[in-house]
Amino acid sequence: MKTIALYNNKGGVGKTTATINIAYILAQVKNKKVLVIDCDGQQNISRFLADDIKKFGVEESIINPAVSPVSSLTSTRYENIDVLVSTPKINDCFKEFDRLSENKQKENVRRLREYWNGANTNSYDYILLDMPPALNHLTENILGIADGVIVPVELGMFAIQGIAKVTDTINKVGSSFTGCFISKFDRHNKSDYQLKEILDSTLGNKVFNTVIPYSNIIRNSVNYRITACEYMKWMSPSKKYEELTDEIIRKVN
Ligand SMILES: Nc1ncnc2c1ncn2[C@@H]1O[C@H](COP(=O)(O)OP(=O)(O)O)[C@@H](O)[C@H]1O
Ligand SMILES: [Mg+2]
Repeated sequence: MKTIALYNNKGGVGKTTATINIAYILAQVKNKKVLVIDCDGQQNISRFLADDIKKFGVEESIINPAVSPVSSLTSTRYENIDVLVSTPKINDCFKEFDRLSENKQKENVRRLREYWNGANTNSYDYILLDMPPALNHLTENILGIADGVIVPVELGMFAIQGIAKVTDTINKVGSSFTGCFISKFDRHNKSDYQLKEILDSTLGNKVFNTVIPYSNIIRNSVNYRITACEYMKWMSPSKKYEELTDEIIRKVN
């Protein structure tokens, strides 16, 4: 079982869209069992994947160990993908979380991953963490349970400069920076090619070969509540998520 977080402290960069598509490809194309954990109170991925949102979000079991992680476990429209849903409470519960001792914080979050390691449970091949654009002790601890953290980057000078802070965080929590991928690349914009070169020279082999283009196929698919592959599997943007997933599998294994 591998646990992979998609994280960037910036919002709107394509974390959730990538998580949805990667989960779909792992489950439907690669035949893997996937658990998605929605760590964002916006509930975007919970609402995308699940038809009914449970009353208990994943945050309940993080704050209170008496609450089993199963209380937020929900099956989805997709065979082989389950989700631990969140509720908006997760945005506020970092204050409550801060009141726990450091050890308790670690232990409670770790339970989320360990729960499915037991021999008799319905084990997953991959756990994908859809992270919020936030940084606090709660998000740090959640990042800390990931075997690898993947950072989607929307090209821009400020965004590139901001990556150092993101990788510092990943190192600080003891996780491994698997790499970053360019999301929403505008092939008609010369500046995106220049920025890509700067990113490549700054991060070297930590930049994924796959570049996700800015694409209305991707944008519309989310609006229709389907993955890019289901919307237009034969088109290049959908294929890019398959390439990205292949790279991820290679890098985390
Ligand atoms: N490659 C892309 N091309 C066009 N639109 C995209 C692409 N990736 C994401 N989007 C759109 O950008 C918006 C933000 O994406 P989202 O995945 O929610 O970002 P995040 O989770 O980082 O906040 C959504 O409306 C989504 O449909
Ligand atoms: Mg999101």
